[in-house]
Amino acid sequence: MSNPTALVAGNWKMNGLTESLAELEALETLVKEGKSADCDVLICPPFTLIGAASVKADAVAIGAQDCHGAVSGAHTGDISAQMLKDAGATYVIVGHSERRADHFENSKIVKVKAEAALAVGLTAIVCVGETEAERDAGKAVSRVVGQVEASLPEGATSAKVVVAYEPVWAIGTGRTPTVQDVAEMHTAIREALIKRLGEDGKAVKILYGGSVKPSNATELMGAANVNGALVGGASLKASDFNGIIDAYR
Ligand code: G3P
Repeated sequence: MSNPTALVAGNWKMNGLTESLAELEALETLVKEGKSADCDVLICPPFTLIGAASVKADAVAIGAQDCHGAVSGAHTGDISAQMLKDAGATYVIVGHSERRADHFENSKIVKVKAEAALAVGLTAIVCVGETEAERDAGKAVSRVVGQVEASLPEGATSAKVVVAYEPVWAIGTGRTPTVQDVAEMHTAIREALIKRLGEDGKAVKILYGGSVKPSNATELMGAANVNGALVGGASLKASDFNGIIDAYR
């Protein structure tokens, strides 16, 4: 089976007002007019911009940063997967470490959210990652593989699910694991996916996230079993994000 097509995804987190759509337009231009890249490109803006972003986006897919696990109902302030799809999203991130930490989301909750996404035809980007204390204790691989096993939705296939490995200590810190550590973790995730999905586990995209920038993207994207990036800070400016896409040009 050939390698999965890579995905370079931007997570704008709680950043972005209507004026920020200019960056999306600039990115569209860079992607369309630049040398073609051997990857898909995705931006996940805040909920408030998904509708407008989907109207503007063409070469760039639009996704969301979270969804509720229920179809609809009495969940004040929450957003369902179907609402995201209705607004134009085709992907949704679930289980980001900021959601796991700030909103006490465990892998059981993440799995339900991913299942809600799959039920309406959204691709779920399931995030996993160890804390610095877990890495220092030599528990990084077992922690992350455990999260993959517990967070993967029923019905997962390589077409419907992407896994994003984001070491918590590397997010927004400017620190990254070594390429060897990234390769070791992604290979362990690959093995867990094959154990769960058989041959199809080889085709699931596994993204690396955590302080990816233009200057380190080629090296990180070159590690074994890395099939793209999930980018926070460096996705906010079209020129920076395009510099990461360059790793696939
Ligand atoms: O989801 C992306 C993210 O958590 C990584 O953020 O700012 O380190 O690229 P950043």
